[in-house]
Amino acid sequence: MRKLLILFVSALLPWLSVRSQKPVYKDAGQPVETRVKDLLKRMTLHEKVLQLNQYTFGENDNPNNIGTEVKNLPAEIGSLIYLHTDPKLRNQIQRKAMEESRLGIPILFGFDVIHGLRTVYPISLAQACSFNPDLVTQACGMAAKESVLSGIDWTFSPMIDVARDPRWGRISECYGEDPYLNTVFGVASVQGYQGEKLSDPYSIAACLKHYVGYGASEGGRDYRYTDISPQALWETYLPPYEACVKAGAATLMSSFNDISGVPATSNHYILTEILKNKWRHDGFVVSDWNAIEQLIYQGVAKDRKEAAYKAFHAGVEMDMRDNIYYEYLEQLVAEKKIQMSQIDDAVARILRVKFRLGLFDEPYTKELTEQERYLQKEDIALAARLAEESMVLLKNENNLLPLSSTVKRVALIGPMAKDSANLLGAWAFKGHAEDVETIYEGMQKEFGDKVQLDYEQGCALDGNDESGFSAALKTAEASDVVVVCLGESKQWSGENASRSTIALPDIQEKLLLHLKQANKPIVLVLSSGRPLELIRLEPQVEAIIEMWQPGVAGGTPLAGILSGRVNPSGKLSVTFPLSTGQIPVYYNMRQSARPFDAMGDYQDIPTKPLYPFGHGLSYTTFVYSDAKLSSLKIRKNQKITAEVTVTNAGKMEGKETVLWYVSDPFCSISRPMKELKFFEKHSLNAGESRVFRFEIDPMRDLSYTDATGKRFLEAGEFIVSVGGRKLTFEVVD
Ligand code: BGC
Repeated sequence: MRKLLILFVSALLPWLSVRSQKPVYKDAGQPVETRVKDLLKRMTLHEKVLQLNQYTFGENDNPNNIGTEVKNLPAEIGSLIYLHTDPKLRNQIQRKAMEESRLGIPILFGFDVIHGLRTVYPISLAQACSFNPDLVTQACGMAAKESVLSGIDWTFSPMIDVARDPRWGRISECYGEDPYLNTVFGVASVQGYQGEKLSDPYSIAACLKHYVGYGASEGGRDYRYTDISPQALWETYLPPYEACVKAGAATLMSSFNDISGVPATSNHYILTEILKNKWRHDGFVVSDWNAIEQLIYQGVAKDRKEAAYKAFHAGVEMDMRDNIYYEYLEQLVAEKKIQMSQIDDAVARILRVKFRLGLFDEPYTKELTEQERYLQKEDIALAARLAEESMVLLKNENNLLPLSSTVKRVALIGPMAKDSANLLGAWAFKGHAEDVETIYEGMQKEFGDKVQLDYEQGCALDGNDESGFSAALKTAEASDVVVVCLGESKQWSGENASRSTIALPDIQEKLLLHLKQANKPIVLVLSSGRPLELIRLEPQVEAIIEMWQPGVAGGTPLAGILSGRVNPSGKLSVTFPLSTGQIPVYYNMRQSARPFDAMGDYQDIPTKPLYPFGHGLSYTTFVYSDAKLSSLKIRKNQKITAEVTVTNAGKMEGKETVLWYVSDPFCSISRPMKELKFFEKHSLNAGESRVFRFEIDPMRDLSYTDATGKRFLEAGEFIVSVGGRKLTFEVVD
């Protein structure tokens, strides 16, 4: 009997040990690909399809995307847009996924952390004006930490859509009009969110959006058709994406726009041929909100089922909130319209990101209090520094700024002077107006009793109530200098916020003109989410500062610029047209066929913009000299170095960004008149000189792409320009 028992137990042992062994996919020691394969093998089709779906949890605070809250979340759901910030709640839902689903696959919690979560920093358009990508990396790192501690693993950011029409509200969300700036800042932001490794405790996954060409929306109207030639696609819209994919961005979002007849969300060429086959991206693509269903309105799918087929087949792996994949993918597999191998590839991509984030091994987040996780001193300081470097001094006639010590009374007038909510900008849903330092508060702190600050609102942002004008004028008359703070509501930019004119509402313009009667010098402070039309205002004022929408900490930096404690160093990431009628106007346009005698220019207004890309004044003077090249002729495989000496010839320390442009005057496919290829920003003490260098790698900096994405480097003449100087050299075969 004993023998029998021993025999029985020993027969059972291997089975018992197999049973007690962790499945391979749960073993953190195994490589990600092994874990993905192992898990896929165990999943049913239904479980797989659930991974390809994203639902929302909570009520959406985005007015463009209201939908009924999904209750009864399936424990197997792939992802949630987490509209809360409570880590406990997130952990509860995650526990359900880990413990109640058959395989214990963690949910991926996503949210739009666009320019900070609770510690809101400047909008992206402003960030790019800092020309300081390191600061942006740090700010995104800080946002990632606040996100992780709020239960968010994945942000729908950065937006790297090159935008050249400021009527489009979403211009505020990108890094301006230039592909290179969107590239550099996109990469900086991916590095900030994702850290060294996705599995680091405070890393979150980035999502490049909106892939691709959304910025070309016709007439700046949102959600519209985009007529993008293959040449423009490759040379303008795709480069930031390619660079950010190479930098390791975990995910992308397909865009709303219809690219020359094939919507991005059903575009096999961009989603599969380019992204997956050519660039070898192995993460996944999520559709934008409702973008799959919108294929019906865009006229390429007759119903939801066809929309599911088209989006999935094109290469969209995750359905954001449409519930279309959930409804139809299983049917489409049964009908053999979609192969199991395609489903497996899509699920593997999502699982890969989850494994890389470490979600299987560490599915829960720390449960700290709001005080512990938000608005830490060093985070606010970082937001302030980024705001400081983003602000652009556009005009400074007779050196009105910094305000001289003889200024004893400042009239602070205008609807933005005490505004807090609008300084947050669009896409700051978890930002609180009460966290924001206003311009007024910043100035009070800065000037203390040295200056008497008299405030009058004058008027609201919009409307036609002029009843505050006379009090404002009186205050202006009693002052030494008038600081007029005008600008935009945060609702005037962001999604679904297109405007037919980029001018400020009449009431604001009228206020400023009214104040002119006081005959006092005027500093115009602007807070906006886009470049503004200043054709009527600019001639009336001595100085203009564009402070953008700086987030929680803009008051002190602005006041620092007014007082001279801060030397402004921002430069424009986007052109300020003289008037709306000039749009599109951007620095890297192509040459006119008759570039002489003002031919082809507007008859009624100048053709030049008011402030070009790269414009930005300082309180000191930077003198450029000794611009030279290391040689005048190179072969295609040789590098060449351009250098220039920059001297701070003024009396104040300041930061200068040196912008290096390349032009290729004659080649098979015409090039823009100039293209930014490199920049560097450094601080220089008064009297200090520094040599700035740009090492030109011909294949990287002088080549160009054709309409199929093939890169060419043609022999011939090239021009490098820096600080208004031009250096010519030749490339030979
Ligand atoms: C926007 C995206 C955003 C998504 C989720 C969409 O309406 O276009 O940029 O990430 O909503 O909120």
